[in-house]
Amino acid sequence: MPLDEFRAANRARWDESVPIHMAAPTYDLDGLLAGRQKHFPRDIDEMGDVDGRTLLHLQCHFGMDTLSWALLGAQVTGLDFSTPAIDTARDLAQRLGIDARFVLSELYDAPAALDQQFDIVYTGIGALNWLPNIRGWAHVVADFLKPGGRFYLIEMHPVLWSLDAQRTDQELVVRFPYFERAEPRRWDDAKDYADPQARLRNSVTYEWNHGLGETVTALIDAGLVIEWLHEHRTIYWQALPWLVPAPGPDEWRLPDEAVDRVPLMYSIRAHKPA
Ligand SMILES: C[S@@+](CC[C@H](N)C(=O)[O-])C[C@H]1O[C@@H](n2cnc3c(N)ncnc32)[C@H](O)[C@@H]1O
Repeated sequence: MPLDEFRAANRARWDESVPIHMAAPTYDLDGLLAGRQKHFPRDIDEMGDVDGRTLLHLQCHFGMDTLSWALLGAQVTGLDFSTPAIDTARDLAQRLGIDARFVLSELYDAPAALDQQFDIVYTGIGALNWLPNIRGWAHVVADFLKPGGRFYLIEMHPVLWSLDAQRTDQELVVRFPYFERAEPRRWDDAKDYADPQARLRNSVTYEWNHGLGETVTALIDAGLVIEWLHEHRTIYWQALPWLVPAPGPDEWRLPDEAVDRVPLMYSIRAHKPA
């Protein structure tokens, strides 16, 4: 199956998910519209000050995370390939009175869609698994950064992606490839991660894992300097059925006896040399 068909299936899924996520309590759109930013304290801390900086959010969905950076003082641009997502993001910006820009584009075509460089490029959780080629993505990130600009990524850990997430017997079993492969993993799941009651017509998606070394090396080869790489024992949703609530707000982790076995998320901060 050609890449375009994988993308079309994924885009249909994301298009359909926009109204569902707008109504889902986990996204808490009302909170954003009341002026409350949605980022987790750790992400704000790791990102560092955004006040007055131009910020590009790649794969911005319907703009909640993008607009949250605006509520923290950034001058934001969001980019996504889903028309309903971008239309909704523009509408939300208007309702919040935020002067934000939202651009409709496939990630790999972004340099043709947006002729600007930014102080900060940001990518939030659940983004990289939709991309077939991590080296191409890293070049897009680097192209959009001004010299001296900052890159911040918070993402699901590729080890988590390789585990059998259906098991309830508390065994960590590697079932799927850890390394990037040309052939995607085909999922057929009508359930939505943000609304357990919702059932999506576009149930089939195609996703790719990218090993940590592949991602870090891709960023370095694209010209970025890695400042740090953090691997986290917690995650922002119940990614395995046997995760338990963690002390942080809306965070989950493995039970005590297993908590040090595998990381669940990772984050990277890097910059483009001045
Ligand atoms: C889970 S969201 C990430 C944003 C944020 N963490 C959230 O949950 O709202 C993933 C986004 O990636 C977008 N996306 C997936 N593949 C893409 C591609 N090839 N080019 C541009 N956007 C893409 C989807 O439309 C979706 O809005």
